[in-house]
Amino acid sequence: MHHLHPLAFAPTWQRIQMDSILIQGGCPLNGSVQTSGAKNAALPLLAAAILTDKPVTFQRMPHLCDITTMITLLANQGADVSMDDQDRLRIDTAPSNNPEAPYELVKTMRASALVLGPLLARFGRARVSLPGGCAIGARPMDLHLKGLEAMGAKISVEHGYVDAKVEKKLHGAHIAFDKVTVTGTENLMMAAALADGETILDNAAREPEVVNLAESLRNMGADIENDGSSCIRIRGVESLSGGELEVIADRIEAATYLAAGLISGGEVTTRDINPDLLDTFLSRLRDAGAIVETGKDWIRCSASNRLRAVNIETSPHPGFPTDLQAQFMAIMCIAEGSSVIRENIFENRFMHVQELRRMGARIVLNGNMAVVEGVEKLSGAPVMATDLRASASLVLAGLAATGETTISRVYHIDRGYERIEEKLGQLGASIRRITPHTDMFWRPDFATS
Ligand code: UD1
Repeated sequence: MHHLHPLAFAPTWQRIQMDSILIQGGCPLNGSVQTSGAKNAALPLLAAAILTDKPVTFQRMPHLCDITTMITLLANQGADVSMDDQDRLRIDTAPSNNPEAPYELVKTMRASALVLGPLLARFGRARVSLPGGCAIGARPMDLHLKGLEAMGAKISVEHGYVDAKVEKKLHGAHIAFDKVTVTGTENLMMAAALADGETILDNAAREPEVVNLAESLRNMGADIENDGSSCIRIRGVESLSGGELEVIADRIEAATYLAAGLISGGEVTTRDINPDLLDTFLSRLRDAGAIVETGKDWIRCSASNRLRAVNIETSPHPGFPTDLQAQFMAIMCIAEGSSVIRENIFENRFMHVQELRRMGARIVLNGNMAVVEGVEKLSGAPVMATDLRASASLVLAGLAATGETTISRVYHIDRGYERIEEKLGQLGASIRRITPHTDMFWRPDFATS
């Protein structure tokens, strides 16, 4: 076992801040690609390590910037971070003594709020910075706080920090969410795992990542039922043990690679993923005329003709995921006909539209609705990544476009896609990363990016 500085886990933030991705469009992508562990499943699993003073190991932990941030957050609280002899991440929060999540870390990743419930359950207090505004909308955490208050926490918000305390122990409560919230459900599920008595989470999120967390907590000795439904029951236990937790496949990553195959006119297979995780997305692709084949742990997509326009609207699982809205829009940009895309989860999640238009897409925006009129071809252009999934849509558009596309600010992509240029390169894409150190002299636009 060797101990490791958390930042050794991924490229340093400073280095990748200025990176760009250069794509020469027009090559059909073919072949198969392995699906990484899901970022959105891994983050709550890491936070769950706070709930026990025994070591926890993780399988299929993706190498991503957001994961580094969460590990740094745990290390900052005093946790011991190491790799075991099988090269799995191991976290031991026995030495943790600082129940705080500082602004410097929370500001880069909203999901840091996931430590609030576990800290409160384990230490009886927590101090977590408010995440602040976010590019894709206000994204408040009022529902997390309301739920913890119902479980007995005293919460004040001062100087940009949430200060939470509980006299003795959190107690169970019946919590009905006004709105379905994924990390809110996860936060309260973790808090309830160690609370006194029974908690019911009503109108809970049903996302597979929530189920992954419930299964992991059960592995550690928690008493949780009905996860995957909208009414989860948790009976608090005295303590949780350590264990080996396995991160599920990243359905958003897999879908993005399937979309890359389709948009470039090729055929891509994603491996190590249960196709059930992508039911709605795959059925919309079928509606558009794609040929979708599936096996126990793989999915393959191709098309013999130009895809047709299909309408979608985002909604909580099992509906169409908001995290795939931008990628689906990229496909619709070159489909035959007009499609209507409604975003029902986040109020400002259309920032890719402006950039896609610069590549020749015809999109009209009206509030939370985008009308996309498919064009024959997109044309490569310099564009800017604005958030994680928006960036993925620009990569897809670049793969389909004629000529060269440069995407700047790719640190957004690195938050959620492991080795994206390597995986796309293996499928036949002409793609490379440019770092300012090596390329700034021949690409002077980096001076301002
Ligand atoms: C998670 C995912 C993110 C995904 C989103 C929706 C993680 C780490 N991130 O984010 O990739 O896009 O689910 O599927 O899992 N809301 C409130 N008050 C709250 C909490 C949320 O009003 O206290 C609102 C939000 O503004 C949004 C909606 O509820 O409109 C859903 O957000 P939520 O499910 O909480 O998103 P996250 O959990 O942050």
